[in-house]
Amino acid sequence: MLLRGFALTNAQDLIATVTLVSNAAPFRNMVTPGGRAMSVAMTNCGDVGWVSDRSGYRYDRTDPTSGDPWPRMPAAFSDLAARAAAAAGFDSFEPDSCLINRYIPGTKLSLHQDRDEQDFDAPIVSVSLGLPATFLFGGPRRADRPRRVRLDNGDVVVWGGPARLTFHGVAPLADGNHALTGRSRINLTFRKAF
Ligand code: SIN
Ligand code: FE2
Repeated sequence: MLLRGFALTNAQDLIATVTLVSNAAPFRNMVTPGGRAMSVAMTNCGDVGWVSDRSGYRYDRTDPTSGDPWPRMPAAFSDLAARAAAAAGFDSFEPDSCLINRYIPGTKLSLHQDRDEQDFDAPIVSVSLGLPATFLFGGPRRADRPRRVRLDNGDVVVWGGPARLTFHGVAPLADGNHALTGRSRINLTFRKAF
């Protein structure tokens, strides 16, 4: 479900909070198991954070760069995620992890499933901030041709239930300049990992 503008009134505060999180746990380009640096820069907050390295993908309680726990999930983040999930029909969503993605012009995210979580009953809640992007939303198989959906600052996408393992990605970000984020797009993805 696409909730247009659901986070628009919070966007400025969300970006300020992302800055606080990334001061403690800086954005970094993680390496895939195949050894390539991802073009999307990532950090996390919450009890656990999603990480990738040569040994695979997983959720970890600590930031591998510093060895410290990830910054706590701000109440404003979990509240927004729970409200968006409820608006899409998923009651009492309690995310324990927020992956924060930063895209600069040219950056893309290849089609993938979010399947490193233990609990596929909980939905994924994705909040778009800053520059617009083309979200690719496919089907249950990688070969399914994805729909192309424009996501603007403040838009929220929720997928779960029978759509929980849908292949999705982001087309290369077009250049631009956004009042809130400059030449970048920030995406918050809320998950229940454990
Ligand atoms: C993701 O799949 O983790 C991010 C999707 C997005 O940036 O919109
Ligand atoms: Fe994803």
